[in-house]
Amino acid sequence: MIDTHCHLDNFENLDEIIQKMGNGKIIVSGCNQKTNEFVLKIIEQYSNVYGTIGIHPEEVLSALDEHLEYIEKHLNHPKIVGIGEIGLDYHYDLDCKDLQKKWFKKQLTLAKKYQKTVVIHSRDAAIDTYNILEEEKIDCIKIVLHCYSYSIEMAKRFQKFHVMFGIGGVVTFKNGIKLKEVVQDIDIRYLLLETDSPYLSPEPFRGKVNEPFNVYYVAQKIAEIKGLTLEMVLEKTTDNAICQFDLPIKL
Ligand code: NI
Repeated sequence: MIDTHCHLDNFENLDEIIQKMGNGKIIVSGCNQKTNEFVLKIIEQYSNVYGTIGIHPEEVLSALDEHLEYIEKHLNHPKIVGIGEIGLDYHYDLDCKDLQKKWFKKQLTLAKKYQKTVVIHSRDAAIDTYNILEEEKIDCIKIVLHCYSYSIEMAKRFQKFHVMFGIGGVVTFKNGIKLKEVVQDIDIRYLLLETDSPYLSPEPFRGKVNEPFNVYYVAQKIAEIKGLTLEMVLEKTTDNAICQFDLPIKL
């Protein structure tokens, strides 16, 4: 199994949580210069850990051009499998919308130049995200909509692009009705498992610190919703992740 999205920079028991994944793989995402440097470090330390680097929409106020240069410089690392997380987040700060869009577009341009998968964080910004993807003509780029939080109708619109949907702990929540609908209606071929650790722990660990192994509980829930076996969900979502991130692993 593969946790396609997490942040591990604040864990003291890294060895333990990574070992717990066994043969499973982990993709760690950066958000700013500091965490991007961490990603570059951790992928060297653990053979089953891969990374994506990028500037998160909530980090744009402190982002510098040299941070973008740093990203570009390291995109050819064999274990850097994408640019992210990047995108738009209008949840708290509405003053920097234009700046968020500017950084989103800059990083999409980089993805096109290097043919890299993008990991998109989009919250309360569905239409703007969709429009930018359309404007930027990213048809040839593989996209992961991480921690997908919009409606099934919107999901179907996004399928115009080469997208997969990152499904995390929210699908196990009682109030995660919208996401359950998405999981039910979207073919398993387009679903990825993720934790977004240390956030969003699935039931029965809701409220506790999340860790990559908990994708297991997300997979269990997806199996239940779609009426598939757990093995089938683990196998399919692993194949999906290998394909969407072009992971250097044989199928
Ligand atoms: Ni994240």
